Amino acid sequence: MVDRFKTYIEGFDDKLGGGIPGESIVLLVGEPGTMKSSVAFNILFNNATQNNIKSVYLTLEQNISSLTRHMKSMGMDHDQVSSYLEIVDIGLVRQQLTDIEKDTWIQVLKMYIKNLKDRLDYDILVIDSLPVLDVLAKFDDPRGELFHLFEWLRGLGITTFLISEMDPDSRSYAKYDEDFLADGIIYLRMMESGGVSVQRQIRCVKMRATDHNTDFYTLMFDGGRFKTTRVIGDSKK
Ligand SMILES: Nc1ncnc2c1ncn2[C@@H]1O[C@H](COP(=O)(O)OP(=O)(O)O)[C@@H](O)[C@H]1O
Ligand SMILES: [Mg+2]
Repeated sequence: MVDRFKTYIEGFDDKLGGGIPGESIVLLVGEPGTMKSSVAFNILFNNATQNNIKSVYLTLEQNISSLTRHMKSMGMDHDQVSSYLEIVDIGLVRQQLTDIEKDTWIQVLKMYIKNLKDRLDYDILVIDSLPVLDVLAKFDDPRGELFHLFEWLRGLGITTFLISEMDPDSRSYAKYDEDFLADGIIYLRMMESGGVSVQRQIRCVKMRATDHNTDFYTLMFDGGRFKTTRVIGDSKK
């Protein structure tokens, strides 16, 4: 088991005691456009190129070509890591299997995740995104069903990043109880500064087994890499 997975966001791993603890479930939350998908893909891409770590990116929102095009424009060419990083489009399954019974959705999802685990023996899974999963699975009892899904994922011995949307005006990171159930929460937001420019920020809200810093940091993508710096105007070093 890998002790900690680096996020490969320069400056941020230090604030996390080196990275994300292995076998955790981490929510990656923020409003649209805050780069949740990019940050998640960046983790998988760099863990593949730097450490030969295998992963699966399960996309429910964006189709594979749209996702890979975006990532390539950011310098992360999927072709370079295709033997380590598998992208699965569950939306395609949805189109093929019309009329799927409600309960079957989570079963189909689990079957995919488990079969890929047996075939590839991957260590990191990204599910993009929870709100779309909710729409597909039509959870009757989201708390209970998410609790069981989280327990099941833990049983696989993998680290999961679950991408979720958050209303910028909301004060809660989760619609159900997934913030309590998750081992970690990383929050991404856009902040106006000076009434004109907007900067992206990142914050580790929660990370079990980690003595982490909870401050906001400016998140930048520069020269093909994510970086964090102190928020401008913040005098703390
Ligand atoms: N080549 C690029 N370099 C830096 N930022 C980019 C690039 N291409 C797109 N973006 C930014 O990435 C954003 C989308 O990121 P994405 O990870 O899809 O966000 P989210 O998943 O949070 O909705 C776009 O709104 C755009 O601002
Ligand atoms: Mg996205």
